[in-house]
Amino acid sequence: MGCGGEGRAARLPIKAAGKGVVPTTHASRAPAPGTADDHGLAASNLGRGPAPALATPGLCSHTQPEEPTPGGLLQDSRAWVEVDEGAIIHNTRLLRRRIGPHVKLMAVVKANGYGHGDGTTAKAARTGGADAFAVASLAEAVGLRHQGLQEPILVLGHLSLVDEAHACLRWRLLPTISTLDQARLFHTVASRSGACLPVHVNLDTGMARLGVPWQEGAALIQAILRLEGLRVEGIYSHLAAADAVDPGLTQQQQQRFDQVLAALTNGHPPRFCRHLANSAAAMTDSGLHYDMVRVGLALYGHASAEHLEGRLPLRPAMAVRARVTILKTVPAGTGVSYDHRYHTQRPSRLAVVAIGYADGVPRLLSGRMGVLHGGRWLPQVGSITMDQVMIDATDHPQLHTGAVVTLLGKDGAASISPRQWSRTCGTIPWDILCGFSSRLPRLRAGHSTGHGGQSAVS
Ligand SMILES: Cc1ncc(COP(=O)(O)O)c(C=O)c1O
Repeated sequence: MGCGGEGRAARLPIKAAGKGVVPTTHASRAPAPGTADDHGLAASNLGRGPAPALATPGLCSHTQPEEPTPGGLLQDSRAWVEVDEGAIIHNTRLLRRRIGPHVKLMAVVKANGYGHGDGTTAKAARTGGADAFAVASLAEAVGLRHQGLQEPILVLGHLSLVDEAHACLRWRLLPTISTLDQARLFHTVASRSGACLPVHVNLDTGMARLGVPWQEGAALIQAILRLEGLRVEGIYSHLAAADAVDPGLTQQQQQRFDQVLAALTNGHPPRFCRHLANSAAAMTDSGLHYDMVRVGLALYGHASAEHLEGRLPLRPAMAVRARVTILKTVPAGTGVSYDHRYHTQRPSRLAVVAIGYADGVPRLLSGRMGVLHGGRWLPQVGSITMDQVMIDATDHPQLHTGAVVTLLGKDGAASISPRQWSRTCGTIPWDILCGFSSRLPRLRAGHSTGHGGQSAVS
C-alpha cells in the first residue's frame, strides 16, 4: 500500500484522547469591551482616562495626529463575538462519550472554527478529547500549526499543486486524494523528497462533490495503493443528508462505502482509518461511526436539524453582542433607515446598535429580528445597514447609551439561536455561524453574566 507496504490496521498517529493537553492560555489582546456593569463606553474600557482621539487627523486638520489608539480599543467596543471555550469542551466530551473510546474524534475547525476562532476551537476540542482536526485549506492547516496544534490535520479541500504537496510534507498535513492524477503528483513530490506522504482518499458515495466516484472506487484506490510515495492512511466519504428524517440516502451511501471497502480488504481486517459520519451521524447512529467521526456543528453546540435537538445536551458556544451608540426619540410616522421601509406607529425611542450586515447580520433579517437586553426581546426596525441596526426601545426605558445588547446567544433566561435566524433567512445554522466577519473580534466569554471579563481569543 505504498511506502513499503503497511501491515495491519493503519493507525492515525494520534495521542490518547484528552491526554497531555495544556489548557489554553491567551494573552489578552485588548481591554475587555464590556464589564459586568455595562453602563456605556464611559463606564468601561474607554472610561479609563480621557476619551481617546482617533489616530487620523481631520481632513483639514493641520495639527499633529494624536498618539495612535491602543490596538483594537475602539473597534472592540462596538460589537464582538463571544466564544465560550467551556461549551466547546463540554460538547466535545459529550460526543466523545457518545462514540466511545475506540472511535477517533476529528474536530472540524474549518472556516475559522465555524466562526468561533480556529485555534481556540481546536484547543478546546482537544481538551474535550478530540484526536485530530479537519480544515478546508492549506492556509487554515498551516494556521493551526502556527498556533501550536501538533495533532493530525486533514485538509478536506482539493490540493493539486506541487507546492501544496511540499507543504503537506513540511507541515505534516494529510491531504485528501480525489483523483489518480492528483495521487500521482503527490507521490512524485514525496518520492523525490525521499518521503512517504500519508493521505486520506475521499470516496464520493453520493455527494457529487470531491472524491473518487464510488463505482470506480476500488480500482482507483488499488492504483493509488501502488504508489510508493503515498501511504493511504484513511478512506472516507461525506454524507449528503445525515440529518434528514428519512435515512434512505444515508443508507445508500453507507452501502456504497461498505462495498468499496469490502472490495479493498477482501475479507481481511481494514488497513485504513475509515470515516463517514458528520455531527448528525455521530449523534444518531453508531453504525456510521467506523474508526473515526468528523464533527463540526455539534462541537459548537448546535444540532444539525430541528428533529435532532435535545439528542445531546449541547451548549451553544457563540454569542454575538453589540453596543447601543445613540438613543433618539422620534415622532409617530417617522421613516426609519434606507428606503423608509418602516414608519413608527407612535412616538418612539430608537436605539442605534453598532453592528450591521458587514459584520454578518444578514440583511434578510431586516424587520424580522430582535435583540435581547435585560432578558427582554426588543424588535429591530427598518432595513439593516452595513454597520448599524435600529431597535425600537420605546417599551424598554432601561436601555441606555453604551448598553450591550445580545443579537445571538443568551441574555438571562432568554436566548436567540442561529437556527432562528437561519429559519427566517431560509438558510442553515452553519451559514449563520460562518457569516460573522473578521471585523468582529472573537473574545473569550466572560463570567456568568455573559457580558463581562472577556479577553481576546485566536
Ligand atoms: C467533509 C466534511 N466532513 C465533515 C463535516 C462536518 O459536518 P458537520 O458540521 O455537519 O458536523 C463537513 C462540514 O461541512 C465536511 O465538509
